[in-house]
Amino acid sequence: MQTIGVIGAGQMGSGIAQTIAQNGLKVLLTDRDLAIAEQSRAGIERALGKLVAKSKIEVADAEAALARIEAVGDVGPMADADMIIEAATEKEEIKQAIFENAGKVLSQDAIMASNTSSIPITRMANWTPDAGRFIGLHFFNPVPVMGLIEVIPGLATDKAVTDRTIAFAKRLGKEVVLSQDEPGFVVNRILLPMINEAVFVLGQSTASMEDIDLGCRLGLNHPMGPLQLADFVGLDTCLDILRVIYRTTRDSKYRPAPLLVKYVEAGWLGRKTGRGFYDYSGDAPVPTR
Ligand code: 3HC
Repeated sequence: MQTIGVIGAGQMGSGIAQTIAQNGLKVLLTDRDLAIAEQSRAGIERALGKLVAKSKIEVADAEAALARIEAVGDVGPMADADMIIEAATEKEEIKQAIFENAGKVLSQDAIMASNTSSIPITRMANWTPDAGRFIGLHFFNPVPVMGLIEVIPGLATDKAVTDRTIAFAKRLGKEVVLSQDEPGFVVNRILLPMINEAVFVLGQSTASMEDIDLGCRLGLNHPMGPLQLADFVGLDTCLDILRVIYRTTRDSKYRPAPLLVKYVEAGWLGRKTGRGFYDYSGDAPVPTR
């Protein structure tokens, strides 16, 4: 593999692009328009700068990684890419449009991967010109730091495509968990009910927001409490994932907590909007309840 197209330049797409470029491959990065892709590239430049400042990487390596990332206005320049990774919003209609569009320009051997956190891979494969070349490739946030990638073949994914995708993930320095195509795969199926339960605990005033997080940090040795983590992932993303798993399984244990729905309806989506369960406008996060 030499060139990877990354479609979606938000939190995940940016981290994916940075990680790929730092591992020596060329990245074509796009989003709804060129300006968004360019903003993402500028953010990656800042992230690489911080790594240089902390003496984690050499200046020359940061410059070389950045030079390998090209922001582009659409999928057109990805015609020769070896693989595309879609990392757009967790909405089926958005992802469907991306794959239908990309499918028209990609080469006949390109692997088509989605960073979806919960949508069934076998269903998504129908949106592409060749289900055999479609696969789930699920990264974790922050991508440059987290050591895991889940690889999820759909029912029709070719074995050779799965093998090449696992080799690619390992080339990025990550460990791979292979998951069957079941809702939420492995990690989110375990994580999202925990976050959701924490919101129920909060909604029932069983404990304060800070104590719920403190309990999980110190009682379970998690680096972040579940409400902090929800803010970090994005409350809208958490709700989208829960809804997809709930709709697919019809299992009531995945029903979203009403308070989570309320926060999303208020536009309090977590760190990215400056306010979620915590308010991030000051020096330190302040609980909102
Ligand atoms: N990009 C790159 N590097 C980052 C980063 C980012 N966005 N955020 C933090 N880092 C690096 C820092 O530079 C630092 O590196 P160093 O130790 O080499 O100096 C290291 O991570 C630790 O950062 P900090 O000291 O600033 O802060 P913390 O010690 O609090 O760590 C954290 C931050 C790594 C985010 C840690 O709190 C953590 O691991 N949290 C849990 C993250 C998690 O669970 N992610 C998975 C979410 S689920 C998911 O992504 C799936 C999706 O489908 C929902």
